[in-house]
Amino acid sequence: MTPTSQNHPANYYIDLEEKYGAHNYHPLPVVLDRGEGVHVWDVEGKKYYDFLSAYSAVNQGHSHPAIVEALVEQAKKLALTSRAFFNSTLGEYEKKVTSLFKFDKVLPMNSGAEAVETALKIARKWSYEVKGISENAAQIIVCENNFHGRTTTIVSFSNDPDANKNYGPFTPGFIKIPYNDAAALEKILEQNADNIAAFLVEPIQGEAGVYVPDEGYLKTAYELCKKHNVLFIADEVQTGIARTGKLIACQHEDVQPDILILGKALSGGMYPVSAVLANDPIMNVIQPGQHGSTFGGNPLACAVAMAALDVVKDEQLSERAETLGQLFRSEIEKVITKTNLITKVRGKGLLNAILINDTPDSSTAWDLCLALKENGLLAKPTHGNIIRLAPPLVITEAQLLDCVKIIEKTVSEFKK
Ligand SMILES: Cc1ncc(COP(=O)(O)O)c(C=O)c1O
Repeated sequence: MTPTSQNHPANYYIDLEEKYGAHNYHPLPVVLDRGEGVHVWDVEGKKYYDFLSAYSAVNQGHSHPAIVEALVEQAKKLALTSRAFFNSTLGEYEKKVTSLFKFDKVLPMNSGAEAVETALKIARKWSYEVKGISENAAQIIVCENNFHGRTTTIVSFSNDPDANKNYGPFTPGFIKIPYNDAAALEKILEQNADNIAAFLVEPIQGEAGVYVPDEGYLKTAYELCKKHNVLFIADEVQTGIARTGKLIACQHEDVQPDILILGKALSGGMYPVSAVLANDPIMNVIQPGQHGSTFGGNPLACAVAMAALDVVKDEQLSERAETLGQLFRSEIEKVITKTNLITKVRGKGLLNAILINDTPDSSTAWDLCLALKENGLLAKPTHGNIIRLAPPLVITEAQLLDCVKIIEKTVSEFKK
């Protein structure tokens, strides 16, 4: 059947996904067909501001011309070789990404979850071969309400029942402590640091609802890790690549993690590209045959990532995120004074969330997102009554203020 406006193309595409796709997502009922910069268009031609940016993957804006050009040129030349051979793009990319983030080495992967898995494997291996933990005894400390991806090991240390119910038996070797609680970290390290390989943390818990820890938390946690010879692993898959107003969010506290995990916007959302960065004493525990991926470090990914990183620098996306983020929060604070529907706005740079004045199991946040959609702005609740607001960082001040107007209008007209 050819979709037509008479037979409602949006419903046609939604029905296809419902019928033939696994139901592992619950999308808003909008069918997107095109994107450019901060905008996306649905199959009926309606234009929206994208305030999710593919969970912060599209920081550089949809279909950025420089990234598209890099993709097309490289695809015409050489897309995939596997790592059985050297290629003429990987080394250039490795040089660029390591010098930008100031690490000796990078291990290229594809998805964020794979990069987290890679970091965990490196940390465990380091703990046995360098720190001297006895075999199979290594523990890794993680935080409550974390989100690091969807693999079996990663969901093993999630406390979200949606993420882990009926996926057991789980991978052992993880200790969970409260987020934003340096004292809890200190306690566990004082008790048992000899068997602890690493502390894995999101500098801001994005998926959990954009929880920004207290100032100084990351620095204190990093120093505690140093004191106890424990690796500090920062998962910056969502917070990295200028999203929070710095190239990586750890830079807000002058922390250089021992292992840095990047994904999403490393490619500007054009292609799955992730990376694990570390210095030689850590990264050199990985030797040929001990880890890898068919697609990791492929020429297409490398060309795209190099172009995406150039855009971040050339268009000063960190600085934009910092300035526009402050403006956004101060404008939303004004909206909050005029409504009792939103109780709070929080975030850093252009990674923000608003808290909706209802219980987490109510449909109010979802209904508000439907109303925002009608008014031309796409966002989605994360964990009940919290709506994450994260536009592409290429948004202009005028566009951002236009979006604030849309939010204000929607909120003022909204009826529960
Ligand atoms: C902090 C963090 N880590 C890891 C991931 C997983 O990335 P991916 O979905 O590419 O596997 C995400 C995805 O949202 C994330 O926010």
